Amino acid sequence: MGAGVVTVHAVVVGSGIAGLTVALHAIEHGCRVTLVTKDVLEHANTRYAQGGIAGVMFDDDRVEDHIRDTLVAGAGLSDEAAVRVLAEEGPARIRELVDLGVAFDRGDDGAFVKGLEAAHSYPRILHSGGDATGTAIEKALVARLRASDVRVIEHAFLVDLVVRGGRVRGIELLVGEHPDASPAVAGRRETIESDAVVLATGGAGELYAHTTNPSVATGDGIAAALRAGADVRELEFYQFHPTIIGTGDAFLVSEAVRGEGATLIDERGRRFAFDAHPDGELAPRDVVARAIAHRMELQDGRPVFLDATHLYSEDAAERAAFLARRFPTIDAAVRARGLDWAREPIPVTPAAHYLMGGVTTDLDGRTTLPGLYAVGEVARTGVHGANRLASNSLLEGAVFGARAGDAIAIDAADGIWRAPARLSAVAPVSVAPDPNAPAFSRGALQELLWEDAGLVRDEEGLRHAASVLAAWRAAARAPGSEAGFEDENLLVVAERLVAAARARRESVGAHFRRDVPSASAPAAASALTSLTTGAA
Ligand code: SIN
Repeated sequence: MGAGVVTVHAVVVGSGIAGLTVALHAIEHGCRVTLVTKDVLEHANTRYAQGGIAGVMFDDDRVEDHIRDTLVAGAGLSDEAAVRVLAEEGPARIRELVDLGVAFDRGDDGAFVKGLEAAHSYPRILHSGGDATGTAIEKALVARLRASDVRVIEHAFLVDLVVRGGRVRGIELLVGEHPDASPAVAGRRETIESDAVVLATGGAGELYAHTTNPSVATGDGIAAALRAGADVRELEFYQFHPTIIGTGDAFLVSEAVRGEGATLIDERGRRFAFDAHPDGELAPRDVVARAIAHRMELQDGRPVFLDATHLYSEDAAERAAFLARRFPTIDAAVRARGLDWAREPIPVTPAAHYLMGGVTTDLDGRTTLPGLYAVGEVARTGVHGANRLASNSLLEGAVFGARAGDAIAIDAADGIWRAPARLSAVAPVSVAPDPNAPAFSRGALQELLWEDAGLVRDEEGLRHAASVLAAWRAAARAPGSEAGFEDENLLVVAERLVAAARARRESVGAHFRRDVPSASAPAAASALTSLTTGAA
């Protein structure tokens, strides 16, 4: 298909790797593209990705091995066809990023430096700036977008999808409510008509009291898709990252640190990850996160420790220089908290990190609603199953973003807005509202989900969460501000997440129910009532 053939107008909502990639691919086909984001372009979750991007980029690695690692981490619930697309098309997308100017780290011989992360059988992670891979990718894509014909609207909040005649026809926005936006446009409602809408709105880390996500991650795309009637699946699969610095504001310590050999020890200095899995600290992320949670429970909620004091050199000064060079972002954050990780283990705890479920798509980002596409964390492509493999998220955004950009042009060119069939969804079971529910606040919602629908769940806790959510739903009023819309979106996603977690009466991957533990997910089977960060 040549440029200029397609006259479609596509609106992309979201400015992380997935949204930017869709936009750049769609304009290649001659589509007119508008990209809207509720903050500024650069403020997307992509920017915070540290470890890197996984892909088969070395001669002695194999696509089949990347597929197998992804399927194993996904605990048997990934769609193999989607995983195959990811692993096979990943290298071409990574080379595109290199062509765009992303400087993945190279050794003295000019070859890419190999990084290892948990549950990978090969060190296939590329990184940039040591641990600033997401920032490098976001910068390069934003620069290309700003130099393109894509129209950009910042500080524009997605209120809802416009659906007419069974098809998505645009979006309704709240424009300019951001504090930095011009007062002249603050709070204006606007509708943008389009032929196609792409949700690239990211995840919903704001559901939880402790998260690695920036504050923009409020589930806006999932909630809008649900209200419009699109299929949304597997919200029970929420990934918790094992290692967040356990003091000060939540800050992620990349799995790449364990990939370099750092170990996890409890407060008595004993390594415990091998009790949960033969791969120890490099077991799948859900296993390590639960092993930490279990250990914390045994030591009254106090954090465990990440020990990097044996890495690189016997000499602490040399080690400090290595850590600062290999992990400059983390090193700065660790030191800003008054810790010296070259000389002493640092406290770490798990936090909500990544939503594996989301808006159901086919292999080209099409959702069950004609005209609506979803890419990146907001989408459920089937790649991640019950637990995402480390550093597959940037890759998913690039691979499926490109495919969605192509699919929009194809659908527009032949005038058929294809949509995969709707699968049977989990219907929320109605629960009596809890008469003792506290008044709604975002903080109360985050604590509720952390306690009752977090790393370890059971029917009693989930039922309690459902009844509190029911009370909040009964009292909910129509939102009038951006924060109000975000709260409503979080409430919608929380209701579905809790319903999905209640419906899945098994433990698999990131969804662990202590009342139905399984042989494959034995860690933390005992009661776990609370985890707190900052308890060092
Ligand atoms: C990390 O660097 O540990 C996070 C990367 C990811 O979420 O895949």
